[in-house]
Amino acid sequence: MVRLYVNVDHVATLRQQRGTRYPDPVTAAVLCELGGADGITVHLREDRRHIQDRDVRVLRETVRGVLNLEMAATDEMLRIAREVKPDFCTLVPEKREERTTEGGLAVTPGGAVERVARALAEAGIGVSLFIDPEVRVVEASARLGVGTVELHTGDYCLAPARGPEAARQLQRLELAARAAGDAGLRLGAGHGLDYDNLGPVASLPGLEELNIGHGLVARAVMLGMRGAVEELRAIIDRASKVGP
Ligand code: PXP
Repeated sequence: MVRLYVNVDHVATLRQQRGTRYPDPVTAAVLCELGGADGITVHLREDRRHIQDRDVRVLRETVRGVLNLEMAATDEMLRIAREVKPDFCTLVPEKREERTTEGGLAVTPGGAVERVARALAEAGIGVSLFIDPEVRVVEASARLGVGTVELHTGDYCLAPARGPEAARQLQRLELAARAAGDAGLRLGAGHGLDYDNLGPVASLPGLEELNIGHGLVARAVMLGMRGAVEELRAIIDRASKVGP
């Protein structure tokens, strides 16, 4: 069965937007696991725009399944990962001006990605590389000695649903997935996945795990909206019966 890791960054985005203590990504993570998630993914960004250092530390204490820390290949993040010891770290490219992770890692030997990946492995932390679905990048990742690659599904998700471009992007993902299997790499996928476009990705050959955030959090908002209004309505009605 393909494992589901829920990315709760967007819960933290809402909290940071208003500087409140809620909504709490740690509480969201508990609910995700109760709902059947196999693990929780968070991206501690350099600019701390959503997830904070404390969230990662508390999640390490509370997540019962797998904790996957997405991070840039920097010394600061390496230090935090060594302290917190998530089950694994996914190295991602990071640009300050981007709204979300826009492309896969540049996987070249002798660079920061290799150095940080090796240091994480030495600390006993599993390493995944977030890469574009290209056979040559999968092969380059295997040469760095990492255990897992996560294929960036963004181009497939951006293509008009069920059109020729989506089919082409799916084929690209399939080729990269097969190359990962041939190279003995564990395979994950994620980015831009939602309830409509997920099916073909979930059945990629050899796929073991999915990381899903935005589409799921957006759906959770809609599923919870009616009940949230009903609760508020009841409070207002009770208060207005009592009077000032
Ligand atoms: N995988 C990686 C490596 C990511 O950086 C992200 C976004 O933080 C995701 C998966 C999840 O993407 P989305 O929020 O679009 O589901």
